[in-house]
Parts: sequence; C-alpha cells; structure tokens
Amino acid sequence: MCGIVGYTGPKPAFAFLIDGLKRLEYRGYDSAGISLLNGDSVLTVKSIGKVVNLEAKRPTGERKMHTGIAHTRWATHGIPSERNAHPHTDEKGQFAVVHNGIIENHADLRKRLEAAGHKFASDTDSEVIPHLIEEFYNGDLAEAVAAALRQISGTYGIAVISSKDPDTIITARLGSPIVIGLGKDANMVASDVTALVTYTRDVIYLNDGEMAILTPSKVELRTLANVPVQRQASQVSWEISADGKGAYDHYMLKEIYEQPESVENSIRGRLNFKAANAVLSGLNLTPREMAQINRIVVAACGSSFHAGLVGSYYFEDISGIPASVEQAAEFRYRNPIIEPNTLVLPISQSGETADTLAAVREAVNKGAIVASLCNVVGSTIARESGRGIYLHAGPEISVASTKAFTCQVTVLLMLALLLGRNRRLNHEWGENLVREIEAIPDLLREVLKQAPRIEQIAKATAHANDLFYIGRGCLYPAALEGALKLKEISYVHAEGYHAAELKHGPIALLEPSVPVVALCNNIPGKDKMLGNIQECCARKAPIIAVVSGDDDCCDKFTDSIIRVPESSRFVAPITTVVALQIFAYYFARERGCEIDQPRNLAKSVTVE
Ligand code: M6R
Repeated sequence: MCGIVGYTGPKPAFAFLIDGLKRLEYRGYDSAGISLLNGDSVLTVKSIGKVVNLEAKRPTGERKMHTGIAHTRWATHGIPSERNAHPHTDEKGQFAVVHNGIIENHADLRKRLEAAGHKFASDTDSEVIPHLIEEFYNGDLAEAVAAALRQISGTYGIAVISSKDPDTIITARLGSPIVIGLGKDANMVASDVTALVTYTRDVIYLNDGEMAILTPSKVELRTLANVPVQRQASQVSWEISADGKGAYDHYMLKEIYEQPESVENSIRGRLNFKAANAVLSGLNLTPREMAQINRIVVAACGSSFHAGLVGSYYFEDISGIPASVEQAAEFRYRNPIIEPNTLVLPISQSGETADTLAAVREAVNKGAIVASLCNVVGSTIARESGRGIYLHAGPEISVASTKAFTCQVTVLLMLALLLGRNRRLNHEWGENLVREIEAIPDLLREVLKQAPRIEQIAKATAHANDLFYIGRGCLYPAALEGALKLKEISYVHAEGYHAAELKHGPIALLEPSVPVVALCNNIPGKDKMLGNIQECCARKAPIIAVVSGDDDCCDKFTDSIIRVPESSRFVAPITTVVALQIFAYYFARERGCEIDQPRNLAKSVTVE
C-alpha cells in the first residue's frame, strides 16, 4: 500500500529517493517524506499529496547527503497530513523510520512510552518504532531495531537510519515486503522491486522475521534473533520502460493496449500443439498427482477474484473438477474444508495482498496443494505457495488492473486445459482449445480497433451516476469486473449482477437515468439474455449492449452497441472485459477523473 525506498552509496540520495518514490507512487499517494543523513544529524522533509510536492522541497546542500530513506503513504492510522507522513522520528530526531504494515499493539506501546516521558508528534501507529529504538539503543543500531521489533505485534516492512550510525540503513520485514538492491559501491532497499530495477537487477528478498544491515559496500542478513542468514541474490528480468507512459496519457490506457502482447507473453512456450495440451512446468505436478485433485478452491481479492470466478467455470466445464472461489479475506476465518487432494489457487497480480497471503498460509497449514498465479516474480505469495504459474504480464502500474486480469484468465484457461487433458478431455477438444487460446492476442487486437466507437458510447453515457452490468455464464464475472473498473476510476456507482438476478430486487432501481450494460455475446444463454434485456427496456433503462461480431440481436433495443469478435464462451470474458476497460477509461476521462491513481485506493493492499 505504502511505498518504501532507501539508498546508501556515493551518489546524492535525494534524487534517487525521489525517483524511487515516483515509481512507487502507484502504491499510495496521499503524502510522502524523506529523511537524509546530514553529517551528525537527520534531516527530514515531508509534504502532503503527490511526490512532486516533496520534490519541490529539495533541501539545501542535499547533494552532500548520500544516505536516506523515503516513503509514500496510503493512510491507515491518522488522516493524510504532514505530521502523519513518514519518516517518523524520536523526539530528538536521531532515529528516522519508514514503515509499511500495521502495528496492532501500538496503543499499549504508546501509553507505555508516553508514561516513560516520550512525546509523540503524530496519530500514526508507526511512530512507536523510533521511540522504541531510542529506548533500546545502546551503541548498536541493529540490536536496538531488533529489540524494538520484538515488542511489536502486527506487520511491518521498515527502513531505519540514524545520526548515530553513518552510511547505514537497517531494514526488516514481517508480513510486508522488503527487497534489497545490490549496486556498485551502493546498496538500496525498497518495498517493491519497481523502485530498483532501473539501478540494479541483483536483488535479495527478505523473508519474514529477517533484517538486513546495509552500508555502501556490504549487506548483512540476519534474523531478529541475531542468527546470520546467507542468501544468493536473484536476478530481476522485468523491463520498466524509461519513458513511463510513452505516448499514452495514462498508464491504464497503455496497459489496456499492451494486452495482446502481455497475453502472448503469458502463452509463450506453454502450448503444445502436438499433444493438444498446455505445458505449465511451475505447477510441478505429475500426471498422477493431477489426477488425484478432487476439488479446486481459488482464493483472491478484487479483479483477481473475478478472474478466479471465470476460472471456476473453466475447471468445471473443461476439466470436470468441482471448483469454488473464496474471497481471500474470508478464507481462513470460515474454517474452509481443505483436504490433501484439494488444489488451492491463490491469484494475485502483486503477490503481496495481505488477505490472499493469509489464505496461502492457511491452505499450506491445512496440507493442501497450493499453486499461485502471480505476476510479480519473487513476491511473497509466489514464494510461500512453493509452486505456481507466473503471468508474465509485465509491470502493471495503473491502480486499476487490466492486463493482469486478462493474463490471469488466459493462464486459468491453460490450466483448465492441462487438468482436462489429464482426465476427460480428448485430443480433438484439446486441439480446439489450444487453437482458441493461441488466437486470443489477435482477438484482443480486434477489440482495440473498436476503441473509437467505445469512446463515443462512453462519452455519451458519462452523465450517468448509476449503472448496472449484467451477464450470464462466464460473462457474469465479466460483468462484475466491468462494474469494478468503472467504479474505481470514475467514482460512479456501478453494480455487476447476474442477468437473471436483476429481477429479484435490483430491477426496482431501473429508470431512464440508469443505463444497463448488457453482455449479450453469442454464447450459450444468449436467448435468455435477450429476455433479460427486454425486462430492462420495459423499465426504460438505456441499454449498452456488447455483442459478437455483426450480430444484430440487440439492434432493436439500442444504438449503443459494442462489438467484440466472435469467440467461444471461454474466450468471451477476455475480449469483453477489454471492451469494458476501454469503456470505463473513457467514461472516467470524460468526467475529468484522476485515472491512474484513483482516490482512496492503492495498488497493492498489504493490510487486512
Ligand atoms: O495484487 P492483487 O491481484 O492481489 O490485488 C487484488 C485487488 O486489490 C486488485 O485486483 C484491485 O481490486 C484492483 N484495483 C482492481 O482493479
């Protein structure tokens, strides 16, 4: 949610930290701050709003300051304000700390520290950390940090600097990601590899309960209990284009247009035409182990949850395996029935979503086979699941997920094919599916060609303050995803519903000011869908119809028709959601909304 970055090395730290914060800004963006080691003191600057506001506060003499930490915040405890922005320090300003996560016992700790004479300057939970470090400091910064962290219950990813320890950053994690970047005569730390990849490809991921001491020439890993840890660096392969958004006005639009290529990357090397099958080696399951899977449970949040819903149709229809989808936040609290032959599939773009991670841990503890679908290589969910399939969608910067969703659904379709071929799917069916999957990128190129028409429809609809999205079968989750896209970037109320459910209540809300986006592609259930559209028309709700190719089935209901290419029911959710992403984008743009960083949201939700 919030972003952390730190640097110690020969270069001026301020420029590095500002650049890192800008790259992390998509994770949280209500305020930001930097602390720099300035001789024998710590200099801290903060600002509310975007990182450019902080950049404008460039401190005099910063070019001589070579070690620093920085933070971009998504408020949890305390309103967005300068006093609540990180870094937080002790009263004397000797220890500066940036923190991601939540300290659950902060109220007790604060009471205790205040009773001992500490004065607090913010409403945050995080501020207890520098005060605790001050309490425990006895000449060794790393020891004081470890002692402070042992007092804490909750989650943290932190970075600390101190005027008492030149050129040094201490970092630690428990439940909130930390990655260390290894440079030439410089070392770096961040909560997200995105902040580091333009400087180094060599990184070390911290595990829970570990800390690291960084100086320009050395990185030392140990546990909080002071046991040394040896870990090889990993190589990051992500390309983050230097020109950011390139010719596009927003990352969201860029990422929408990247989808043919990102899906191609997801598919690359994973289809075997001769065997009419998918090859998903990260799954690491033998044919016998696959044959023993008797249930699939997906755990995910937001768009990833919607992708999982599409997947559940695939698993039952294609693979013949009962499947259900759980809100990851509920997974461990409802004591799910997980047996040794249950395949649990956590799905997460970031691989860091706290609720999904908790579901992974619950599933691992219950002895399930856990295989994650993550985009971020080396992310916590990917590592803790032990096996999985990477999406290869490339970095997704826009808070509203687009290309990760289409890659998730494509990967789920390949997985359903693999499990289906392992059981009831014959060669011919397999071959058909392989062909369909291979064709997805070209179908998406066709959808993108419709963008000007979709833009017109979106602009003509953008006055609406309530919308319904309806679909059936695999297009029901597509309706949910379309509605989520619209509400998160346009701040307009939009609800996804199963088309048949509308008449069980929500139809009461339909009137001429409430448009209904009806997904009426040429797939089984279309006739019933046409009936549902009639029901909406009878309440004078304007219809925006998504149809396949030249189909004229909705011409009598509306002029607002979005055409996506003909495809099977399995591919229809992918093409349709891309059309709905474009609709949401232009709708929000017409309303003058902030698109890449919508209010109140964060890219990666690392609190429960
Ligand atoms: O990184 P994850 O896929 O685990 O994130 C899950 C949700 O937070 C995410 O999909 C969210 O709903 C997006 N903003 C949707 O566009």
